[in-house]
Amino acid sequence: MSLRTLTTGTELRAVVRAAQHAGHTVGLVPTMGALHEGHLSLIDAARRECDLVVATVFVNPTQFGPNDDLGKYPRDVSRDLALLAERRCDIVFTPAVEEMYPPGFGTTIDVGVVAGPLDGEFRPGHFRGVATVVMKLFQLAPADRAYFGQKDYQQSLVVRQLVRDLNVPIEIRVCPTVREPDGLALSSRNAYLSAGDRRRAVALSESLRLAEKLHRAGERDPQAIETAMRQHLAAAGGVEVQYIALLRDGTVEPVTRIDGPTVVAIAAIVGGTRLIDNVRLELSDER
Ligand code: PAJ
Repeated sequence: MSLRTLTTGTELRAVVRAAQHAGHTVGLVPTMGALHEGHLSLIDAARRECDLVVATVFVNPTQFGPNDDLGKYPRDVSRDLALLAERRCDIVFTPAVEEMYPPGFGTTIDVGVVAGPLDGEFRPGHFRGVATVVMKLFQLAPADRAYFGQKDYQQSLVVRQLVRDLNVPIEIRVCPTVREPDGLALSSRNAYLSAGDRRRAVALSESLRLAEKLHRAGERDPQAIETAMRQHLAAAGGVEVQYIALLRDGTVEPVTRIDGPTVVAIAAIVGGTRLIDNVRLELSDER
């Protein structure tokens, strides 16, 4: 089957329902386009696990703040379509803004505490926009499974909270972060980085590697790990840290001592571009 592009919610829902009626499983991969191997790894996972793979490409205005990069967010739909076809995606939904938010639109979704700290604090309203558009996509494409990236750790928690609280019968799959060879997490926003900023940006993933190394060597004090990371980032120069947080895995609760699965999350601005990354600390004998 070749890639089919749909632009209305009515068509999308009809196609998904028809597939399920025929006994096929449906996998949904929501994206904002400017696709890279991180996004495509989600398509691949859906392709492995589902009969029909549906991607969405929609730069959702409601998740951008007034000073965010909505206007300059990279857009290249024809390239996205070619990549999706290459990865054997079946359906791509590319709605216009008015299709998703017609005049008079009023409902928003607030998932509560999980959206409060970290990116919720630095990007007020961001997760309200994410939860609202993701819920709309779940309504339009009532898939069996939906695929998200670990790269956006807090977003994955927001989505899990949403499906739990609102009884959405979709299984949420969270897939590993895909990285450049030097460790930088792939992101559509990496396109904004100048050559110098690109070199500096690797300090984020390096600092997470350092956290892993210290943890492997027996460090259990989150403060000590944060301090070492901050020193590494300061040495890189030009990296403005917004937060470094050590969280109990699956939550946004800071840990006071590392005694179980822990996520180290970081957000920083490099040359005007906001980057996030995270890593899960685990010992080979844990799990
Ligand atoms: P976007 O940034 O385009 O990301 C779409 C999906 O790709 C998200 O689930 C994200 O976590 C995942 N992803 C991004 N970079 C990745 C990487 N390097 N490795 C693995 N997965 C990666 O996240 C959004 O769009 C939007 O908020 C959206 C959920 C589509 C709602 O508008």
